[in-house]
Amino acid sequence: MTEIVDICALRDLQPGEMRLVEQDGLEIGVFNCAGTVYAIEDRCSHDDGPLVEGILDQQACTIECPRHGALFDLKTGKPLTLPAYQPVDTFPVIIDNDMIKLEVE
Ligand code: FES
Repeated sequence: MTEIVDICALRDLQPGEMRLVEQDGLEIGVFNCAGTVYAIEDRCSHDDGPLVEGILDQQACTIECPRHGALFDLKTGKPLTLPAYQPVDTFPVIIDNDMIKLEVE
């Protein structure tokens, strides 16, 4: 069943900022990429690296895994470079009255 989860006010996640949220045992990274918010599972598909501790490139809208450097597209969750070759889950983001919300199944 899909659940809508409140994350924070949009003003509390400025462009270039990211945060980790936990929902039902699932860790999700929420990223403000030059004004657009994206959410992906915070677990690198290569070896479980914590993606929110990586380097965010707002222009390319990618996150670099801090463990071995795989780059992921925040829009699709797909890896753009090795050593990761499997995508990570993405979550739809809703901006409602300046509140960031996620759709989580
Ligand atoms: S754990 Fe992310 S690249 Fe290896």
